[in-house]
Amino acid sequence: MPQKQRKQGNERVQLLWGGRFKKPLAEEALRFSSSFSVDKRLWKQDILGSIAHAVMLGETGIISASEAKALVKGLLALMRDIEAGKVELEGPDEDIHSFVERKLREYVGEVAGKLHTARSRNDQVVTDFRLWCRDAVKQLAEAILKVQQALVEQAEQHIDTLLPGMTHLQHAQPVRLAHHLLAHFWALQRDLERLKDLLPRLNTSPLGAAALAGSGLPIDPELTARLLGFEKTAQNSMDAVSDRDFACELVFICALTMVHLSRLAEEIVLWSTPEFGFVTLDDAWCTGSSIMPQKRNPDIAELVRGKAALVIGALTQLLTLLKGLPLTYNRDLQEDKGIVFNAVDTTLACLSAMSQLVATATFNADRMRQALVRDFSTATDLADYLVRKGVPFREAHRIVGQLVLHLSELGKGLEDATLDDLRLFSDKFNGDALAVLQPEQSVERRKELAGTAKSSVVKQLRRARAEMKRTVIWLQRFPTISPDLKQICP
Ligand code: ARG
Repeated sequence: MPQKQRKQGNERVQLLWGGRFKKPLAEEALRFSSSFSVDKRLWKQDILGSIAHAVMLGETGIISASEAKALVKGLLALMRDIEAGKVELEGPDEDIHSFVERKLREYVGEVAGKLHTARSRNDQVVTDFRLWCRDAVKQLAEAILKVQQALVEQAEQHIDTLLPGMTHLQHAQPVRLAHHLLAHFWALQRDLERLKDLLPRLNTSPLGAAALAGSGLPIDPELTARLLGFEKTAQNSMDAVSDRDFACELVFICALTMVHLSRLAEEIVLWSTPEFGFVTLDDAWCTGSSIMPQKRNPDIAELVRGKAALVIGALTQLLTLLKGLPLTYNRDLQEDKGIVFNAVDTTLACLSAMSQLVATATFNADRMRQALVRDFSTATDLADYLVRKGVPFREAHRIVGQLVLHLSELGKGLEDATLDDLRLFSDKFNGDALAVLQPEQSVERRKELAGTAKSSVVKQLRRARAEMKRTVIWLQRFPTISPDLKQICP
């Protein structure tokens, strides 16, 4: 009787582990614990990992060459049928690993039972996950590069466009628009460098760690690692199945990239207000109102700003998921994938939207130049003038401050000042002082430390282009499955 029940249970829910149980798993417990709806996205990684594993089992003689061949053939057929939509990713399975094994049995029969030799779902799932994250790193880098491209192209159009640079959102000093846009470029460049830096840690193979203690069979983990394009193998089987640092780092990079996008988005929202009027968004990338016919709203930028909250939340979710876990595998870890998938999906969608939003936007050079009129943003230049005449900077600062107060009480700007106005506050002012008040001159004096002078911005643009080229080369050499494995499954 117990025998029969057990069999019934195993058949009904297709579990990989029914043997020691008298009763079937409750349907609700299966539904509660199944991750298939989320981890079905790993189907290709799971099949590739399984092919590499089967090849290794054959090469090491753990299974016979003909058994390995049968497994590989079956896995390939399954892969093609899923790709062609002939096999749906559906079923009562606990997870993608159970699904693949169940389907494989339909293709190759009982030999399917040999695939899981010397492997546990614990090393299998994290192998799949690392392969998925590796692909995500590549996609994120490509998407960041597109935003950088849009920024650089706009910057090239606006080397001579001047606007008030701000601190505290108050007019501070004139800057070139190219300089402002490139500031966002370098933030994204650091995100790219973080992705590059993550890759060797991420691209480490845990396959062969089995459940936690390593395999007792004479496996060849170096071979599976090489076939799958991993750079190296794990140092410790227990760490291999429980480590999710790579996922945390990836989500952190997504979160910080989103913070960068969100800051850019916030500026676009501000700049597209009529009060600023610095940017006009393309019709294709802004939205209207259901009641107010005149509206053009920067919803895409607002959503990028909003979605940053979700990705920041994902980082907290993932770190919190891990913080209380003893070694090694714990089922809590199953929740890691949904978190990472959401973070990466959201970041990719935002990068894509922002690259197009920036590429199609029109920056209003006249409005920006207008904003520099009577905004006192060349006051520092006047103080520097006095410094050049030997006045201590603190004293120069006080003199120009008094001049600004005086002029603003008269409703005048610095550019309206006469030499007499200046000399009311210091006799060090000469005729040449009036020229330093021109924003065009102000920016040109700032040649040092990547300042906003033309020569400096042009140099910066050249460096930005060189960085983009380096990223393209890095992407061309991006790790992928080995030629041997590609030959098996083109
Ligand atoms: N679905 C699980 C996960 O995503 C993998 C299975 C490991 N399960 C287990 N009981 N050891 O983490």
